[in-house]
Amino acid sequence: MFKALILEKQDDRTVASIQLIDEARLAASADGGDVLVRVDFSTLNYKDGLAITGKAPVVRTWPMVPGIDFAGVVESSSHPDYKPGDKVVMNGWGAGETHWGGLAQKARVPADHLIALPANITTRQAMAVGTAGYTAMLCVQALEKHGIGTNDGDVLVTGANGGVGSFAVAILAKRGYRVIASTGRPEEAARLRELGAADIVERATLSEPGKPLQKERWAAAVDCVGSHTLANVCASLRYGGAVAACGLAQGMDFPATVAPFI
Ligand SMILES: NC(=O)c1ccc[n+]([C@@H]2O[C@H](COP(=O)([O-])OP(=O)(O)OC[C@H]3O[C@@H](n4cnc5c(N)ncnc54)[C@H](OP(=O)(O)O)[C@@H]3O)[C@@H](O)[C@H]2O)c1
Repeated sequence: MFKALILEKQDDRTVASIQLIDEARLAASADGGDVLVRVDFSTLNYKDGLAITGKAPVVRTWPMVPGIDFAGVVESSSHPDYKPGDKVVMNGWGAGETHWGGLAQKARVPADHLIALPANITTRQAMAVGTAGYTAMLCVQALEKHGIGTNDGDVLVTGANGGVGSFAVAILAKRGYRVIASTGRPEEAARLRELGAADIVERATLSEPGKPLQKERWAAAVDCVGSHTLANVCASLRYGGAVAACGLAQGMDFPATVAPFI
């Protein structure tokens, strides 16, 4: 038996409770999961908040264990890549939406969903980085895959004080990029500089509707914001630049033209 936060649908309400669950139920809920993990830590993501409060239709099957990520130690595995005692981390893959997630003492998942943790990173540290940090790293890797180098020019991060943005600032700076942080919270500028930002721009200079083509300014960008901000970023990207768009804090719309892409 293990403890889990269980979400149940009662009439039209989402009801959350901590329950003792038989491990056999994990096998039934895990959709062919071949690795059983003892969960040490999970983050409380915004999406989890939406699921637990029932404020958005995040949960697709009921009952559900929320938690879009976890870090823990393998208890048993029928997959050759993992053995008991291995430290692992899991982000996304529909956890907490279509199959049971990380807000439980145990989780059963397919080996493909897991990443082995390096020996020098604890499960606690992995979840301090969380899915926000993981997303930021995927963005930086995407920019590097598109050939953006540290000598190409300034890299903009929008929503820089947020979870993803602040990790993106820190990772980019550590890798040697000159990072410009866009924020609506200038009172946090000192913290952003501590993380490695070379300069700060005021969020409002990017978030209003702008011209379809603007002065070429950014070698690349990590955009957490979407909407007019993403449109303005694309319009002021240098020739050959790239944007890793990972968020919609300002809006899901993308009111842009094809001009910067031509
Ligand atoms: N966290 C994750 O695991 C994750 C994973 C994948 C995708 N995402 C997406 O990435 C985005 C950022 O996630 P997050 O966890 O970093 O959220 P967050 O901590 O709430 O940060 C979002 C940031 O966006 C800026 N912002 C908020 N409202 C804005 C507006 N109306 N106009 C312009 N900027 C605005 C703010 O930055 P300033 O205060 O600096 O202005 C805020 O701190 C979200 O859309 C999320 O869905 C998140």
